[in-house]
Amino acid sequence: MPAPIVTLTTAENQHQLTIAQPTAGLALQGRVQIPGDKSISHRALMLGALAEGETQIQGLLLGEDPCSTASCFQAMGAKISELNTELVRVQGIGLGNLQEPVDVLNAGNSGTTLRLMLGILASHPDRFFTVTGDSSLRSRPMSRVVKPLQQMGAQIWGRQGGALAPLAVQGQALKPTHYHSPIASAQVKSCILLAGLMTEGQTTVTEPALSRDHSERMLRAFGAELTVDPETKSVTVTGPARLQGQTVIVPGDISSAAFWLVAGAIVPGSELWVENVGVNPTRTGVLDALEMMGADITLENQRIVAGEPVADLHVRHSILKACEIKGDIIPRLIDEIPILAVAAAFAQGTTVIRDAEELRVKESDRIAVMAAQLNRMGAQVTELPDGLEITGGAALQGAEVDSHTDHRIAMSLAIAALNATGTTTIHRAEAAAISYPNFTSTLQQICHPL
Ligand code: S3P
Repeated sequence: MPAPIVTLTTAENQHQLTIAQPTAGLALQGRVQIPGDKSISHRALMLGALAEGETQIQGLLLGEDPCSTASCFQAMGAKISELNTELVRVQGIGLGNLQEPVDVLNAGNSGTTLRLMLGILASHPDRFFTVTGDSSLRSRPMSRVVKPLQQMGAQIWGRQGGALAPLAVQGQALKPTHYHSPIASAQVKSCILLAGLMTEGQTTVTEPALSRDHSERMLRAFGAELTVDPETKSVTVTGPARLQGQTVIVPGDISSAAFWLVAGAIVPGSELWVENVGVNPTRTGVLDALEMMGADITLENQRIVAGEPVADLHVRHSILKACEIKGDIIPRLIDEIPILAVAAAFAQGTTVIRDAEELRVKESDRIAVMAAQLNRMGAQVTELPDGLEITGGAALQGAEVDSHTDHRIAMSLAIAALNATGTTTIHRAEAAAISYPNFTSTLQQICHPL
């Protein structure tokens, strides 16, 4: 029996993921089923809770983040069956009917749960809510949603003038607004649109670049009156709305697929099929970036499933070259920048990533953390105020690295380790379960010694 390449050990509630490079090397081979899309899973649970009648969700992500959303809405009266990937039933309570929760709502590590939920809570009159999250979420900026909600008349209090959770919300009848968001953020856009559902009149959000449009697609499917103007990048919802329960089929998360796409591209001899991946054009910046880098990825069996484009992705190893990633593509690949940094570390030339200052306020400061951790492995990464400069081609060596409890960092470092000599240990690897509970077992299945 050859020694295992991928092992997971647990000590004091923390996981250590170890990847030991066999002397002759390894290759990745096989078919991968990825977990459900995190953004769509949150929205299906929330709209299901707010709709009249039953919503059936197939393919829900069972990560910790959607569990946080489910438990918050259960605490406000929605009946949600046991979470599973086959079929989750949500008995909606109808817009405006959320119950005042008897305890603090806890969004855990999930910015999407907290920010989207704030729009819903602020627009529910005569009810009082308190919301919080884990230490990472309590340090992330909330004023980006609190300010526009206050512009609509919302009453929200918190540390630093409402900038940081824990927050207290006194629900109100809000007035409509036209909000020009300074950042391209689907969380900001969705928060305001959700507040607009309960608000009499037209609520519009205009963003500087198009962010993911899952809320728009799903709100329409649930029966909200919604118009989109692609020219001005504006979305308008007319309230008060009524939502009707629907069947939602959640595609695989392209943000999770991205780890295998980069792994297949950088590890010599690899060939992977990543099945049932959501390829909504507001999310496929990672495919465009990898194409610019010369990756060999093809989209097969393209189809539309419950209003979202889906495809199977086929990746084979190829020689990558550096590229420049900046401007309007950034919101289309914002969550994939850590793994794209890994691709860049193995590409010929210097990759420059700019206009991505948002990474500094994600689950961790992803610019600082990725630069520090990849450099520990011998990469040549320089922090920029709004991005990274990565000179590829240096041979990476195994090292002790740390996820900083950020799921996407943990998984990105594991993929880097597949192409590094020696042994890499990723500390606090349990963070992967936020969005990808089966990450390690899939890695074990597809990793083969040469
Ligand atoms: C998300 C939007 C993005 C993304 C996050 C999920 C969503 O955040 O990074 O992982 O589901 O709306 P921002 O809106 O802050 O860009």
